[in-house]
Amino acid sequence: MRIVVGITGGIAAYKAPELVRLLVKAGHEVRCAATEHALEFVTRVTLETVSGHPLYCDLFANNERSTQHISLKDWGDMLIVAPATANIIGKVANGIADDALSTLLLAFSQKPVVMAPAMNSLMWAHPAVQRNIETLRGWGIRMVGPAEGELACGTDGIGRMSEPSEIVDAALSSSHCPLSTQKWLVTAGPTYERIDRVRFIGNYSSGKMGFALAEALAEAGAEVELVTGPTHLDINHPHIHVVRVESAREMYAAATEAFPQCTGAILSAAVADYHPAECADHKLKKQGDEGMTLQLVQNPDILATLGGMKQQQTLVGFALETDHELENAQGKLQRKHLDHIVMNSLRDEGAGFGVDTNKVTILSADGSRKESPLMSKKEVARLIVNTITS
Ligand code: PMT
Repeated sequence: MRIVVGITGGIAAYKAPELVRLLVKAGHEVRCAATEHALEFVTRVTLETVSGHPLYCDLFANNERSTQHISLKDWGDMLIVAPATANIIGKVANGIADDALSTLLLAFSQKPVVMAPAMNSLMWAHPAVQRNIETLRGWGIRMVGPAEGELACGTDGIGRMSEPSEIVDAALSSSHCPLSTQKWLVTAGPTYERIDRVRFIGNYSSGKMGFALAEALAEAGAEVELVTGPTHLDINHPHIHVVRVESAREMYAAATEAFPQCTGAILSAAVADYHPAECADHKLKKQGDEGMTLQLVQNPDILATLGGMKQQQTLVGFALETDHELENAQGKLQRKHLDHIVMNSLRDEGAGFGVDTNKVTILSADGSRKESPLMSKKEVARLIVNTITS
């Protein structure tokens, strides 16, 4: 494999030559790209000697073509940034390309990128760094570490760069893309069932849970068909194809069309069970004092339909409950022929609609059960993906 190793300006840069040496020893061709600050910690001569190639460091060096970041992107199969400082992580998360390595990183957006963060514990814990890390993870960038231990500043804590051998193992193991040959369907958000030109029946789903699931699947290497009801959320990931629908019947059409090509499906959408029998093509007027009756017709059950279509595919449903939670979820698991069901209860504070967190119990057809604490929806999504694919 052709691997570009990016080095940024942290004390752990002194371990970069060892990383390059291990990759070369394992039979890979390596080229190095370093920031100016990295060269305060490790020399150009060392990196050029261990890789056997000129170092890429200056966007505008006289002897280099100014499009070298593009040729290096075309050349490389993978980019490993070790150490990755808070600075480079922040730059990529915000689309900043002001030197050779950050420019290369943006150009590399369609290929595998692995980062080994290294920084002081307080910097690592800063909300801005954590937000940037989540953004990069969401785009499919794999993080290795940081590890806990002694730090350069003399304290102990999280922030040490993982050892070069661990970075090599993590970067090269196929386990970082365990779903790379798979396609998954995810449904997300609410459905809107039109009453007239200006009104609809809807619910409080924001789409956050479903979008987090799509991201977690894409992070694991899958292609994702994300069928979502109305939401203000957006996602821009090369492996996630978003299909926006409004009603349960539109979601049904999109999901049943996509499912036969998929390895599995996770249905997290809050689908309306009924729609108005008639949708007026004008704004309905008030009808005196005696009230108004809306006649409702049942919507198709998307999950149950996929349960009937299923052939060697993994089918996962959600159950949003307010009472007799496990009993109700278990009933849905069996009735809809599911492999797993993810139960969340509105009795748990911080779980369910709208919020950024969730607390779930995953019930499986083999009788096993996994409970999560209250976690961010992104973490819950990773737990679900790991559980249903392992
Ligand atoms: O979007 P968020 O704000 O992040 O909120 C997330 C969530 C609370 C919506 C999500 O975690 C969740 O619980 N989704 C399922 C909500 C729901 O409608 O549950 P249910 O018990 O009514 O439905 C059971 C399952 O059948 C669900 O997988 C649902 O997608 C599916 N279903 C239901 C009706 C229908 N006509 N077709 C379906 O596919």
